[in-house]
Amino acid sequence: MSAVSFEGRVAIVTGAGGGLGRAHALELARRGAQVVINDLGGDMTGAHGAVTMADEVVEQIRAEGGIAVANYDSVATPDGGRRIVHTALDVFGKVDILVNNAGNIRNGAFTDLTPGAIDSLLDVHVKGAFHVTQPAFAAMRDNGYGRIVFTASAAGLFGSIHQANYAAAKGGVFGLANVVALEGAPHGILTNTILPAALSRMAADMAPEQFAGMPTTPAHMEPEMITAMVAYLASEENTHNRELYSIARGRYGRVFMGVAPGWHVSVDQPVATPDDVAEHIDRIRDLDGYAVPESMVAEFALVP
Ligand code: NAI
Repeated sequence: MSAVSFEGRVAIVTGAGGGLGRAHALELARRGAQVVINDLGGDMTGAHGAVTMADEVVEQIRAEGGIAVANYDSVATPDGGRRIVHTALDVFGKVDILVNNAGNIRNGAFTDLTPGAIDSLLDVHVKGAFHVTQPAFAAMRDNGYGRIVFTASAAGLFGSIHQANYAAAKGGVFGLANVVALEGAPHGILTNTILPAALSRMAADMAPEQFAGMPTTPAHMEPEMITAMVAYLASEENTHNRELYSIARGRYGRVFMGVAPGWHVSVDQPVATPDDVAEHIDRIRDLDGYAVPESMVAEFALVP
């Protein structure tokens, strides 16, 4: 059995003042990491609030004998992202691990979502992940080592009613993570993405109709269940890159995006018409024999 250790490692966890981020930060620190606890505090919409959220987690880590420092910047601006990463560089001298976890929520029926509710979600989840990951990636590349974990959502990949802004923002995280993974691998930076489901204040804010059809049998929904996967992906033990993992109701499972073998028109045949598509739609939709391409180029290369 292997022991996941972070001795000598420096980690940044964004949105670590509460919920999942707090659990991730505590576990990384318990296993030896020096951790930057980023959180602007505040309510679920992402409005600025009490910086004490980050301080309380730092205090707990220190009380347990660990090493941590607080940062209160918002991930939602380039300057904020830079300052978060510079906190790690200035205080601990490097960045080995980045857990992009900060997130907000402003649910509403699709046509009710205001421009503000759309911008705010894109700013925090997807632009925020850019703002922190760019400077962190540069520091990791210079060191030839890094582990990055993005926090997406099943809502972003599979859909969830009244969360168009949230799902679109999380959808952007998948795209971002794919490219960071491809560009990072040659530099020893491995990047993976989680789709968590856990009880936090964010989950408690969901309306009952959003969970219609969900099983009601008791299941593990503790933040620590998510942390187990995050800590593994953030460790040297993990050698996988550009992967997605769902952690929900006690089940840990890889998620993938695949492409069907489909219907192929070779160059010696005429350009397809809408009628051809109608004729071959069953074959186009048939997932039997699907492939899981590792990049855009790998997807194109599948076609003979
Ligand atoms: P939470 O609301 O308890 O934690 C989010 C933290 O991010 C808060 O402490 C908040 O102050 C902080 N934050 C918000 N905006 C920020 C900003 N601009 N800069 C820095 N910090 C900011 O919610 P939870 O559940 O712990 O969420 C953590 C992550 O997991 C989020 O990205 C969320 O979207 C994602 N997630 C959670 C799920 C769940 O079931 N709880 C499901 C799918 C995804």
